[in-house]
Amino acid sequence: MKTKDSTEMTPDGLFVPTYKRGGAPIVRGAGMYLYDSDGKEFLDFGAGIAVNALGYGHPALLEAMKDQAWQLIHASNLYHSQPQIDFAARLVKHSFASKVFLCNSGTEANEAAIKFARKRAAKISSQRYHVLSFSESFHGRTYGSLSATAQPKFHIGFGPLPAGFHYSQFNDIQSAKAKLDEHDFAAIIVEPLQAEGGVNTADADFLQFLREYATAHSIALIFDEIQCGTGRTGSLWYYEQTGVVPDIMTLAKPIGGGMPLGAVLCTEETAACVSPGDHGTTFGGNPVACAMGSCVIDTVSDPAFLKKVRDNGEYLKNKLEELRPKFPSIRSVRGHGLLLGVRFKEDPGQVIEACKNNGLLLIRANLNTIRFLPPLIVETEHIDKAINIFEGVLKSLM
Ligand SMILES: Cc1ncc(COP(=O)(O)O)c(C=O)c1O
Repeated sequence: MKTKDSTEMTPDGLFVPTYKRGGAPIVRGAGMYLYDSDGKEFLDFGAGIAVNALGYGHPALLEAMKDQAWQLIHASNLYHSQPQIDFAARLVKHSFASKVFLCNSGTEANEAAIKFARKRAAKISSQRYHVLSFSESFHGRTYGSLSATAQPKFHIGFGPLPAGFHYSQFNDIQSAKAKLDEHDFAAIIVEPLQAEGGVNTADADFLQFLREYATAHSIALIFDEIQCGTGRTGSLWYYEQTGVVPDIMTLAKPIGGGMPLGAVLCTEETAACVSPGDHGTTFGGNPVACAMGSCVIDTVSDPAFLKKVRDNGEYLKNKLEELRPKFPSIRSVRGHGLLLGVRFKEDPGQVIEACKNNGLLLIRANLNTIRFLPPLIVETEHIDKAINIFEGVLKSLM
């Protein structure tokens, strides 16, 4: 067999180009910092896109991982495993839910949630399969969750999408009601705080309307808390701040402490419509990921930890607000807790790039927003340092 040319083995040559990325590879993380193979240090205000809630190299997480790896790395989902039981028990103890399904990622959690909702609705009518989601939402990349993602740019070139997905305007009760009245719906799926879509908060009366309509018409209300949940906004789940309780909640990103782990939390009523064989996953609820997940929940659910997230979130938001009058290109500062966004009047791509060159990692949200999503262990000194770099970059570019 002909051996490959070494140019094909460069980072850019090796991968299907689903990401635009460059620079030296990341080799190590410690606390709030990442390091590349050239030894360059980055203050990470992206947290692996909201995954690394406890930062890098957290001792309790490493212990949990090591202990579990020595015991058992994988067991089939044909059997119970203790780390899954311990993790699911924590999720139930700390939420509205009484049943849990474990998977590996956010998109899988939403996929399962949509399937469970459709199964529940099919008990009433085979025509009751429609799913409503909202403009600027992001629910994942596989066909069900991609179809629920109401941003046309993610659909281009991937049609036909599955039938029965409908969209209305986020935070627009009239638009939602008009769409809901048109079809027989199985599910409404909403991020109560949109992240990828530009850091957009759902209005209390909008969520309240969805809750009331869903209850009146036996529709499953799904909250996607994959990015906004697990302590990120200063309460364990964001729904606790909204006064609205969903029927199903999806989780992923931080809950595995950096290992792939997703979860669907639901009520007894939903779970009762699902039978053995209806859904499954080989790797879902991996024992090592679940052991780390229990460590994440134990750490993040501590009221003192959550208070610190709220305090630091407020500190960061105030610092960002102080920049607004100095830079007219900043349109607004948005979000809650440590899920914050700075919306610009124009594309902030250059700002993100320049911050990276200056040792600060930030993430774009939608077209014109920069997300600030530091690990939840952030301290005010890190915030001051990040603001310093960010302000310096804004001064040099704007
Ligand atoms: C709100 C939300 N839902 C779902 C997903 C998809 O999660 P994953 O990338 O783990 O499939 C994401 C990812 O960014 C997300 O932010």
